[in-house]
Parts: sequence; structure tokens; C-alpha cells
Amino acid sequence: MALLNTTLANGAKRAAYTSAQLARVLWYTGHYAAGRRLMGPLTEPGEAPYADEFAPLDRERLKTAFRDAFRQDWKNIKAGNYKLPAELRRPPSLPALFKQSRDYLRDSQKVARRKHQGAHSEVLTAAMREKYPRYFLQNFHFQTDGWLSESSADRYEMQVETLFTGAAGPMRRAALPLIGEALADRDIARTSLLDLGCGTGRLLQSVKENWPQLNATALDLSPAYLGKARNALGRWKDINYVEANAEATGLPDASFDVITVIYLFHELPPKVRRVVAREISRLLKPGGVLVQLDTIQYGDEPGLDILLENFPRGFHEPYYDSYCRADLDKIFGEAELHRSAQTISFLSKATIFNKLPV
Ligand SMILES: C[S@@+](CC[C@H](N)C(=O)[O-])C[C@H]1O[C@@H](n2cnc3c(N)ncnc32)[C@H](O)[C@@H]1O
Repeated sequence: MALLNTTLANGAKRAAYTSAQLARVLWYTGHYAAGRRLMGPLTEPGEAPYADEFAPLDRERLKTAFRDAFRQDWKNIKAGNYKLPAELRRPPSLPALFKQSRDYLRDSQKVARRKHQGAHSEVLTAAMREKYPRYFLQNFHFQTDGWLSESSADRYEMQVETLFTGAAGPMRRAALPLIGEALADRDIARTSLLDLGCGTGRLLQSVKENWPQLNATALDLSPAYLGKARNALGRWKDINYVEANAEATGLPDASFDVITVIYLFHELPPKVRRVVAREISRLLKPGGVLVQLDTIQYGDEPGLDILLENFPRGFHEPYYDSYCRADLDKIFGEAELHRSAQTISFLSKATIFNKLPV
């Protein structure tokens, strides 16, 4: 009887998961299609043709990899590796959804204009240059206001989910089992975690839902994105917020057990990646763990390489191609951080790097 009850409860939970995810995928796919229509073709007439370096897109692999990300997400929830995320537990507010939709579609026209004019440095002014590094002052993805306004931060999650047609949540959550591994033998209430380049706080939301006693710090260079994270994470009063450059955070040596860094490294120039890797190593305690999640790289999914090659053509991503070619083991290895585990989820890859205990 107990077994039957558990089976029925799991069946109901799975049905709820599937229908909520299906609705999300349809919603974001619709916006993706509308956005692409507004943006037009990825390459301009006369622009260099695609490189012959990579095989044609393997569409079957793309579909399977997409579905696998959701299957893996569900397996992790079922296995208790993490909780059913809040966005799937409650139906979304319809007025909020429509507001996001209207804002996204209106903004897509501005994105399209920037793309066709090659306008990717609208946020670069002399005043901003005094405060921020040059590479930070760009309209990544041709987004309005770069990283530097509240409306950009408000729109960010919708843009990311739309780009991945609803798979951004499962991909980001691929970091959670690795974080779980990093926390396995630790007293959670005495363990500290830093999310470097936290953006609007999506990862920390999942982290605090699953490990509420963890001492968490959110760091970002953008006051607007950090402010959005602060609002999103408002129900956890014990989170520290730090507005700082990941290259030189000003935080004390050996002050964290775990550091997470999600979708930051592909936004950094190659030299800066090395600086940030060293800063992470400085901040980690001996025996500490880095969980890094970012796009897959060339060769991880050979049938999808061409997608990675095309991506920075359509969306301003000046360092993406070099990231896809970067030797991460070497970059982190030079900072005394050594790879021990890795998982791929659709177009993202999560990796654990360990700092040796002394
Ligand atoms: C692509 S977003 C990723 C945000 C978040 N981690 C996520 O999972 O969505 C990159 C974030 O890194 C921040 N960022 C970029 N360069 C940075 C730097 N040098 N130091 C700190 N934050 C930085 C941006 O402000 C932005 O919030």
C-alpha cells in the first residue's frame, strides 16, 4: 500500500513537472521565434560565410540533448538531489507574464536595430570608463543598457530562457548536484559559499531553497543586477551582497568553502579569465571547491559545434569563440584548481575544480 501511494505521488509529481515544463517550453519557443523574426538572418549580405571547420548541425542530437536536460532535471528532483523549483511549484502570475512578454518583444526591436548597426558599446562613456573595465561596458547580446540598468536586469531571465527555449533552468540546475557533492561532508551552517557574477540571483535562489542554512555571498559588478538579486533573494535575510569586480574582490584570503561561477567566464576576455581564476583560488580555503558552469566547448558535442560557432554572430558575444576553445583545465590548473567531476546538460557544462588541502 505504501509503495502504491509513493508510486502514485511520484506519478502526480512527474505529471505536474512535465506539464509545467511543457508550458514553459512553448512560451519561450514562441518568443524565440518572434524575436528571430524581428532580428532577421544571423549574417548580413556580404558577411564572411560560415567556417568549414565544423560539421553541419546534427538536428537529431540537438533535440535529444534538449530532452535529456529535462529528463536529468526530473531524475535529480525524484532522487532528492534538489527540490522541485519554485517556478514549477506555483502557476506564474498572468499579468507578470504578459508584462514580460510585451517588454521582451518591444526590446527585441531595439536589439535588432543594434545588431544590424553593429552597435555594441552604447554603454561606453568616459564616466563609466572610470568605474568599470572596458570589456564590461558592452551591450552583450546587443541587450539594452548592457549590464547597467534595472530594466536590463528585469528582462535578463526572460532573455536567457527565451534564448534556450525554456532549458536555462534545467541547465543552471546541473550545478546543484555538484554543489551537493561539495557540501556532502560539511556542517552546512558553518559552510560559506560565494556566487561570483551572481547576476539576478537565480542560482542562489536554488541554493538557498535546498541548503537554507548555508552562509551565502552574492557578488556582481553591476549594481542593477546585484539589486535585482537582493530583491529576488529577499526572504533569506542572511545573504551578504558585494558589489565588486571578480578580478579583485577585496574579500579576505581563504574565506570561502565553495565558490560558484555561472555563465561568467564566456563574458571575460582570455587574459581576464586567468586573473579571475587566480582570485577564486585566493578566496577558497584549502580543500575548497569551485563549481563552474558555462557553455559547452568545441568537441563536447561535435554535432552541435556549428551552433557554438554561429552564436556570437547573431548575439554580440566578443569572447565566446575564444572561450569555446579555451583549455579550462590549464587555466584553473595554473591557479592550483584541479578538475574532479563534470556533467553536460544540453548546451551547458558544469565542472568541479578542487583546491588541494594543505
Ligand atoms: C551572463 S551573466 C550570468 C549571471 C548569473 N551567474 C546567471 O547564472 O545567470 C554575467 C554576470 O556577470 C557579471 N559580470 C561581468 N563581468 C564581471 C566582473 N568582472 N566582475 C563581477 N561581475 C561581472 C555581469 O554583471 C552579469 O551579472
